[in-house]
Amino acid sequence: MNMAQQTVVTMPGDGIGKVVLPEAIRVLQAVGFDAEYVHADIGWERWVSDGNPLPQATLDLLKQHTLGLFGAITSKPKKEAAKELRPELQDKGYVYYSPIVGLRQKFNLDVCIRPCRSFPGNPLNFVRQTPGGGIEEPKVDAVIFRQNTEGLYAGIEWTDPPAEVRAALATHPKFKAFESVASADIAISTRVFTRAACRRIVEAAFRYAKKHGYPSVTICEKPNVLRETSGMMEEVAKEVHADYADIQLWSTNIDAQMMWLTKNPEDYSVIVAGNMFGDIVSDAFAGLVGGLGFACSANIGDEVAVFEPTHGSAPKYERLDPPIVNPIAMILSAAMMLDHIGDTGKAVAIRNAIAAVVEEGAVRTYDMLRIPGGPEAISKGAASTTQITDAIIARLD
Ligand code: NAI
Ligand code: MG
Repeated sequence: MNMAQQTVVTMPGDGIGKVVLPEAIRVLQAVGFDAEYVHADIGWERWVSDGNPLPQATLDLLKQHTLGLFGAITSKPKKEAAKELRPELQDKGYVYYSPIVGLRQKFNLDVCIRPCRSFPGNPLNFVRQTPGGGIEEPKVDAVIFRQNTEGLYAGIEWTDPPAEVRAALATHPKFKAFESVASADIAISTRVFTRAACRRIVEAAFRYAKKHGYPSVTICEKPNVLRETSGMMEEVAKEVHADYADIQLWSTNIDAQMMWLTKNPEDYSVIVAGNMFGDIVSDAFAGLVGGLGFACSANIGDEVAVFEPTHGSAPKYERLDPPIVNPIAMILSAAMMLDHIGDTGKAVAIRNAIAAVVEEGAVRTYDMLRIPGGPEAISKGAASTTQITDAIIARLD
C-alpha cells in the first residue's frame, strides 16, 4: 500500500499567500516529502461572505491533522472591516478579528520561532564599516523565541473601561495620576504574563540552544521598568538556566537590543521575548538577513503547529502576472515544518538549495535586486516567483 505519511493542512489565505504557498508545496514535493495536502479556507473572503475569517471547518482540519502551512491574510481595522461585509451581514454585530491571532489562541500555539540567518552572497545582508574603512559582513544567526499568546497582544483592552476595571486600577497607588481623567478619555491595553507560559517559551529556547549547539540564550525584555511581567520572565529564565549550565544566560533590554543588533548582531544566538517585544526584535533581525522575503516562522503548540512567512498579503502584488514576490520566506517556513516532524535531512536539503541559489546570484527576485516591485521588475532582470522556485528545486540534491 502506498499511503501518504503525513497530511498537511494548507491555508493560503489572501493576496500573495496564494502565490507563495503553492511554491512551497512544489519544493516539498521535489525534495521527496511524502504528504497529502488538504486545503482550508482562512481570511478576508470568508470574512466578507460569512462574517468569520476563521471557519470551523479549518479548525477541525487542523485539529485532525495537526500540521498547517499558512500563507498570509489581509487584516483591516474593525470599522473598515465591518463596512466590507456583504450587505446581508451588515449591522448584525459581526466583529472582525485576525484569524492568525485566533489560530494561535485557539490551539495555544504559544511558542513562536523566528530564525534569522544570513545566506552568504545575499545582497540584502547587513554590512558594516571596519575601522580601516573597509566593509565587513558579519554572519547573522539569531533565532527569536517569541511568546505568542499573552502579553500586550492578548487583546484584553478597553477604551472607556468599565467602572469595575477603573475601580480595580484605582487600588494601585500609581493610578492616582489618572484619577481625574474621564473614562471616555482613557485607553488601556493590559500586559498579562503567566509563569507557565514564560516557562514554556524559555524551556523551548534552551532546548533549542542545546540541540543546535548555540552558546547563549538572551532574554530580551525590560525588567527595570516592566518589573512584574518582564521580571517574571527573567526569574523563570534563571530557574530554567539551572538545568543548562553549559549555555550562558544573558539579559538585554529591548531598547538596548535594538541598538546592539546592528552594532554586533553576530553576538546573539537564541533570543527570548514576550509577544510584542518578540514581534519587534524578530522583524529587526529579519531586516539584517534580507527582510520579509526571507523571514520564516513556526507557531508551535502541544498538538498543533502552523508554519508561515512573517510577511503579510502584500495586496499590491497579488494580481501581478507573472507573480514577482519572493517565495523564500514561505519555503523556509515549510523547511521548519520538516524540522518539527524530524525530517531534518529534507529540511537541510531545502536550505542548502536556497543557499546555493542565493550565493550564485543568477536568479533573484526584485527585492534581492533592490529594485521597485511592479510589473516592470521582470524586464529589469528580476526573476519571477516561479523562476526562483524552479532554481531552488534544480539545486535540491
Ligand atoms: P506585507 O508584509 O504584506 O507587505 C509589505 C511590503 O513588503 C510589500 O508591499 C512588499 O513590498 C514587501 N513584501 C512582503 N512580502 C514580500 C515577499 N514575499 N517578497 C517580496 N516583497 C515582499 O505588509 P503590509 O503591507 O503592512 O500589510 C498588507 C496586509 O497584510 C495587511 O492587510 C496586513 O494586515 C496583512 N498582514 C498579515 C500578516 C499575516 O498574515 N501574518 C502579517 C503582516 C501583515
Ligand atoms: Mg510582525
